[in-house]
Amino acid sequence: MSPISTKRHGDVLIVTSNNPPVNALGHAVREGLVQAIAEADADDKVKAVVIRCAGQTFFAGADIKEFGKPMQMPMLPQVVDIIENCTKPVVAAIHGTAFGGGLEVALASHYRVAVPSAKLGVPEVKLGILPGAGGTQRLPRVAGVAKALDMAATGNPIGAKEAHEIGLVDRLAEGDLEQHAVAFAEEVRDIRPIPKSSTRDDKVEEARANPAIFDEYRKANARKMKGFDAPEAVIKAIEAAVAKPYQEGVQEERRLFMELMSGTQARAQQYFFFAERQASKIDGLPEDTEPRAIARVGVIGAGTMGGGISMNFLSAGIPVTIVEMAQEALDRGTGVMRKNYEATAAKGRMTGEQVEGAMALLKPSLKLEDLAECDLIIEAVFENMDVKKDIFGKLDKIAKPGAILASNTSYLNVDEIAATTSRPEDVVGLHFFSPANIMKLLEVVRGAKTAPDVLVTAMQLAKKIRKVAVVAGVCHGFIGNRMLMPRQIEATKLLLEGATPEQVDRVHVEFGMPMGPFQMADLAGVDIGWHRDPSRIESIRDQLCAMERWGQKKGAGFYDYDDKRRPSPSPVVQQIIEDFSRKEGIARREISDQEIIERTLYIMVNEGAKILDENMAQRASDIDVVWVYGYGWPVYRGGPMFWADTVGLKEIVDGLERQEDRLGSDFTLSPLLVRKAEAGEKFTR
Ligand code: 3HC
Repeated sequence: MSPISTKRHGDVLIVTSNNPPVNALGHAVREGLVQAIAEADADDKVKAVVIRCAGQTFFAGADIKEFGKPMQMPMLPQVVDIIENCTKPVVAAIHGTAFGGGLEVALASHYRVAVPSAKLGVPEVKLGILPGAGGTQRLPRVAGVAKALDMAATGNPIGAKEAHEIGLVDRLAEGDLEQHAVAFAEEVRDIRPIPKSSTRDDKVEEARANPAIFDEYRKANARKMKGFDAPEAVIKAIEAAVAKPYQEGVQEERRLFMELMSGTQARAQQYFFFAERQASKIDGLPEDTEPRAIARVGVIGAGTMGGGISMNFLSAGIPVTIVEMAQEALDRGTGVMRKNYEATAAKGRMTGEQVEGAMALLKPSLKLEDLAECDLIIEAVFENMDVKKDIFGKLDKIAKPGAILASNTSYLNVDEIAATTSRPEDVVGLHFFSPANIMKLLEVVRGAKTAPDVLVTAMQLAKKIRKVAVVAGVCHGFIGNRMLMPRQIEATKLLLEGATPEQVDRVHVEFGMPMGPFQMADLAGVDIGWHRDPSRIESIRDQLCAMERWGQKKGAGFYDYDDKRRPSPSPVVQQIIEDFSRKEGIARREISDQEIIERTLYIMVNEGAKILDENMAQRASDIDVVWVYGYGWPVYRGGPMFWADTVGLKEIVDGLERQEDRLGSDFTLSPLLVRKAEAGEKFTR
């Protein structure tokens, strides 16, 4: 049955799409739309058309699952032209998200009516492509060039109210959308000529007089767009909309679209779209597993982590009891949370009322006993097994039956922690990343005995607090930090062998990481995990710590920093490195960038393969989600496992074998990686 149906209301033909979950514009929808327009054209009694969608949203875009498969006619660019050329006025009735191809359908329609909660956007750039059904040509003509440029280059949507203000939406519909749209269609049914977006010129005129707008946009957003191909293509396409007649602009859009679509970045970003959604699914759980109800969350520890974790729940409207040992620490912690909220408000991203609302949900306490009323308790104290065991032993006596007991440990064995309680099935790891109120990633660590409903609750709650959750097994460092370890070890060894922190970091930044290993150490604190004995100097890091070169917070670490925290290479550090090389009898040599890639990135792929082989991650794409959201791996390279596939697993193995002597006696190749390389297989689909 076609997902498109038509019905008449007076002389208005109502065309309804019903293609759950998001009314993606797949082949059957496109075909149905073309037929519906033909029906309207052919029937004299039809004076106007309304296009609407059933379910949760207006068309949320082209069907991404069709990308890369043989094209099926009619293609979306043809469909939107057919809609625009309909001989009767067409009104798009928008609710939910009119995204991508969906907005292109709305732009080809002659009028747009939307509910106030609707969002309109062209997120294609997030999939490594650009709006390819006339969107780059029609949007600037309707919304204005500056707005279109920003919407299409960032992919961020705007709300219906703003869309109404700028003329992208003709009327806001409070109440029943279909009724409104039909009434609107009746109002405009006789207006001739029928207004077409493609023939409008008024808004592009303005930009014609100011062609510098494009270079200004490039300059202002260079940092955000760095490394990505799609934003620049978007800018070029909109430049064409301004500089060329409509048809030539469309041809330029098509050329750029095809170019992007055949590139690796588009493949990576589209892969990642599904990877992210796949990550929330846990294999092998009974399908009818119901989550537990979480009405109040408890957090132990009001330090940076505990405070950040609490803020997630407060922002989502979930009350939090936060417990500290001393009043002073409690006051300091809650003070920092308030300050963070106020900073967000100062940037206009929260109202004063929202700040007070969130803080009012917080109950600070000095008594663990106060956690008895919580449905989920998250421990975020010092990373020490004895301390954690002690706390979980106490919690076991305090927490109500069925409460979930979670540890925010980043390395420690969750099963060992669980074993100190009489209810290991209620224990789970919830590894937040710092700053916990900002970073999107949450590793949900599944213990040997963690109950299915605890896992389901964790995944659902993650969505509620707008995190992307990935399930990890119990192993040292779970997925992310476990892969980080060999990278850090090799990066440090490279220093001793002849590389500089600047060189290693540069290779990583050029690769697309937000920063390299040593920049990261300086930001996080070189002294994290240090033994705190300045007389015990066994490594470069010990030496830096002994000299209080603890990173950015001290104005010195692997780099020197000026008062604006701008780094410069440190001669002191260079000397320390060279002294260590000498002491350890290592002959310094020229290190190539390729060697840095092989020893710090290929080695991560190898560790990822081991994680997969040991079932510590459910799927390769979960590992990629961890690295993109937890560590800033460039999404246009998909993630370490997807990237390895693009490099070729044989090359990864060859590279590691080339380096084997330098990787030390602890290094072993992952049997899974070798097997896959030999079979010519990939990690990801
Ligand atoms: N094509 C195919 N499947 C899609 C899809 C699309 N465009 N958009 C969403 N889905 C699928 C998801 O994979 C998911 O499937 P699953 O249940 O099997 O995991 C399901 O729909 C629900 O999606 P979400 O979990 O993301 O649901 P939310 O309610 O959280 O979000 C949404 C809804 C805001 C519409 C979000 O799904 C979204 O942003 N989708 C992508 C929109 C987009 O990128 N559109 C542009 C497409 S490219 C294009 O139009 C090219 C054109 O210019 C030629």
